[in-house]
Amino acid sequence: MTEPAQTDDLMEKVVRLCRQRGFIFPSAEIYGGFRSTYDYGPLGVNMLRNVKNAWWRSVVQLRDDVVGLDAAILGPPAVWEASGHLATFTDPLVDCKNCHERWRADKIEGVCPNCGSHDLTEARAFNLMFKTHAGPVEDEGHVAYLRPETAQGMFTNFANVLNTTRKKPPFGIAQVGKSFRNEITPQNFVFRTREFEQMEMEYFVPPDEAEKWFEYWLDQRMRWYLDLGIASEKLRLRHHDPEELSHYSRGTADVEFLFPWGFDELEGIANRGDYDLSAHAAKSGETLDYFDPQTNERYTPYVIEPAAGATRTMMAFLLDAYSEDEIGGEARTVLRLHWRLAPYQVAVLPLSKKDTLEPLARQVLSRLQPHFMVDYDVTQSIGRRYRRQDEIGTPWCVTVDFDSLEDDAVTVRDRDTTEQVRVPVAELLGELRRRTGEE
Ligand code: GAP
Repeated sequence: MTEPAQTDDLMEKVVRLCRQRGFIFPSAEIYGGFRSTYDYGPLGVNMLRNVKNAWWRSVVQLRDDVVGLDAAILGPPAVWEASGHLATFTDPLVDCKNCHERWRADKIEGVCPNCGSHDLTEARAFNLMFKTHAGPVEDEGHVAYLRPETAQGMFTNFANVLNTTRKKPPFGIAQVGKSFRNEITPQNFVFRTREFEQMEMEYFVPPDEAEKWFEYWLDQRMRWYLDLGIASEKLRLRHHDPEELSHYSRGTADVEFLFPWGFDELEGIANRGDYDLSAHAAKSGETLDYFDPQTNERYTPYVIEPAAGATRTMMAFLLDAYSEDEIGGEARTVLRLHWRLAPYQVAVLPLSKKDTLEPLARQVLSRLQPHFMVDYDVTQSIGRRYRRQDEIGTPWCVTVDFDSLEDDAVTVRDRDTTEQVRVPVAELLGELRRRTGEE
């Protein structure tokens, strides 16, 4: 019945839908926009929060071996000296001598994508970190950096977390938050932006167990995307070649999604060895290791790191969910989002604007609001309202009609099948919960 929209213009359609329905707006639009920055609108903020919550639920809430952290975004140079980012977090930058555009040398194969010229400068290393100054004095002594990854907060707080939680390896520290990279060529909507959100977890393990846990997290993380509805043929795991590895990595595999331009990275899962803890211990002079009282051994744990992008992943879920079909001869756009990710799980729709339906409809709304994000829509025909909810991915519409006043029941309509069933108001919450599979 449904054709997933795998056409060339899928990207254009999703970007347009995001703009028109209030998922994602270009930032500072009234001033002509600010390249590569985006604002998440009323629907986007719900969905992005849902993506992050689904990750937190899987990586922290449902486990007893992972705890959370929310570390500062601003940091002193020492952190980034120790982590290696000041020395090595660079992309090769070239200038086109003809049109003066700047490019990442490793992405363009010697030809300027703007004007076709081969007359490019030698590549030079461009550090991707945003540098600023903390306080009013703009000198070298007051330099600070916006974090380019959330990960370092987990390493610098390793001893704090160990001492306050009494966890012992294998255990993890998870964090969700903004990171900043001065990307040379931000592109493809929110796929690569200069300000973005990450969902990262550092899993500290005894060194001889690192390989086992690396494999374990590859499996867990692939499963997360599949469980949230990404089609298996659009997802793959790709192991890095040795020359591709980051400066800290002993082995990395990327979870890749089939974007309209081909398979590309959603998440990197790396075995960081003891690189980070050892580097911070050496630079800070603090002890960042673990003493195992059972074996009387002291060791620096290895780290397995699943590092995903929240904003990039949200885009993948939107692309995967977008489809077009026909209902009763009428074309519709439908976002087949997992209920956990949809901006609203439920929409309450009084059949008519007449005041007589309003009290019951509002009663139904307030009964559902503590449990779900619920939209309330009274404008235009019921058919138009169903289409609008389909287009933003709302899995269930609850319609209050004139019969409802007599039988105290409402109609529940399913987004994907469009099937409608009558449900007593008293059983509505239970019925919706049953549909989520979370009774
Ligand atoms: N701590 C390891 C680390 O940061 P990474 O592969 O550089 O690893 C992890 O980043 C994830 O963060 C990426 O897989 C991607 O989803 C997301 N990400 C990285 N740079 C991004 C950017 N400029 N815009 C949007 N997302 C980005």
